[in-house]
Amino acid sequence: MHKRYLFAPGPTSVPPEISLELAKPVLHHREPQFIAILAEVRDGLKYLFQTSNEVIILSASGTGAMEAAVANLFSPGDRVLVVTGGKFGERWAEICRAYGVEVATVDVPWGEAVDPITVKAALDSDPSIRGVCVQACETSTGAAQDVRALGDIVRAYPHALLIVDAVSALGAMELRTDEWGLDVVVAGSQKAMMLPPGLAFIALSERAWQRAAQATLPRYYFDLQKIGSELAENDHPYTLPTSLVVALREALRRLQAEGLEHIVKRHRQLAAATRAAMRALGLSLLASKAPSDSLTVVRVPEGIDGGRIPKLLQEHFNITIVGGQDRLRGKVFRLAHMGYVDAFDIVTMVAAVEFALHRLGYPVVWGTGVRAAQEVLAQPID
Ligand SMILES: Cc1ncc(COP(=O)(O)O)c(C=O)c1O
Repeated sequence: MHKRYLFAPGPTSVPPEISLELAKPVLHHREPQFIAILAEVRDGLKYLFQTSNEVIILSASGTGAMEAAVANLFSPGDRVLVVTGGKFGERWAEICRAYGVEVATVDVPWGEAVDPITVKAALDSDPSIRGVCVQACETSTGAAQDVRALGDIVRAYPHALLIVDAVSALGAMELRTDEWGLDVVVAGSQKAMMLPPGLAFIALSERAWQRAAQATLPRYYFDLQKIGSELAENDHPYTLPTSLVVALREALRRLQAEGLEHIVKRHRQLAAATRAAMRALGLSLLASKAPSDSLTVVRVPEGIDGGRIPKLLQEHFNITIVGGQDRLRGKVFRLAHMGYVDAFDIVTMVAAVEFALHRLGYPVVWGTGVRAAQEVLAQPID
C-alpha cells in the first residue's frame, strides 16, 4: 500500500472538504440554491483576484481562458508583444497567431524573468502594439515575472493592455489585479485554487472591457461580454459545471478564511524550504534569480537520466512529480508547492527526491535536504 501524493504543478491535490462538495447531488444551473452559490462565488473570486470587476467563469482549462483573452481583445492584424521564456509564453504566441494576431516577442532565456525595461523599450519602439502577454509564473521553468513592474509600465500606454497568465500564480503569489494595473488576469481551477481541473477564470479591467466592445476577432462560446452580462445577474449563458462551482465556493471560503496575506507568506516559506533543500543536496535551480513561490524547478545532476526521477517516484512510492517539458525534457524536474500544501508535504517531497537520487546513483547523505527544509519551516510565518 502506498499513500498517494500529488506534487505536480497542476492538477494539485484537493482538500477532502472540497472533494466532499463534489460528491453532493448535482444542482441545476438555474435553481435558486445554485443562484445563491454563484452570487457568493462571484464575490469570492473578486477577493481572490483583488478586483472590483466581474471575474468571468468558463468551463475550460486555463488555455481556454488564454484563448478567450485573445479572441475578445484583439482584431485581425493587431500587433501583440509576447514575453516568451518558456512553454506557456510560447502558448500565448501560438494562440495569437492562430487568430491572425501579429506577434512580436521579447525572448528571455528559459528560467529567467524579463527585465521590465526591455518591455518598455519594445513598446516605445513600436507604438502599434495593442497588448503585452506574459506569465506571472512560467510553470515550465519556475520563473516569476515582475507583473507589478510591468503593470506600472504598460498603464502609461493607452493603446496597450497588460494580459497576465496567472494560472499557476493566483492563490499562491501576491497578485493585485486592480492596484497593479493588470488589465487581464487568467487563472485555472487546478493549481493553487485547490480544485480539480475544469474551470478557468478571466478578469478584465475597465479598459479591457472597453477594448472587448470594439475588438472584432470571431468568438462565440468564449464571448466574454455575453457571459459577463449574464453573470452580473447570477446567470450564465451555458450550462456551468455546477458541482465544480459548488466546490469552488468551498475553496474560496477556505482561501478567504486563511486570508491572502497569510497564503502568500505560507507559499513563500514552502518555496524557500524547497529551494534550500535542493541546494543542500548540491542541486542547482533553474530559475535561481527570479524563482516563483508556486513551484521549484531543479536541474538534473550530470550523468542522471532526468526522466527517471518522476518515473521512479511514481512506480515505487505513488508520488507524482513531473519532469521538464519541451527543450527541458530530461534536464529538470519540477516540484510544486502550491495550493493544499503544508510543511509536512515539503518534508515528504524532499525525502522522496533524496530516495530517487540515491537510487539513481547520486551521492545522498540521508536527511541533508530534509534538514535544510526543516530549518526554514521552523521559522514562524508571521
Ligand atoms: C502558466 C500556465 N499557463 C497556462 C496553462 C495551461 O493550462 P491548462 O493546461 O489548464 O489549459 C498552464 C498549465 O499548466 C500553466 O501552468
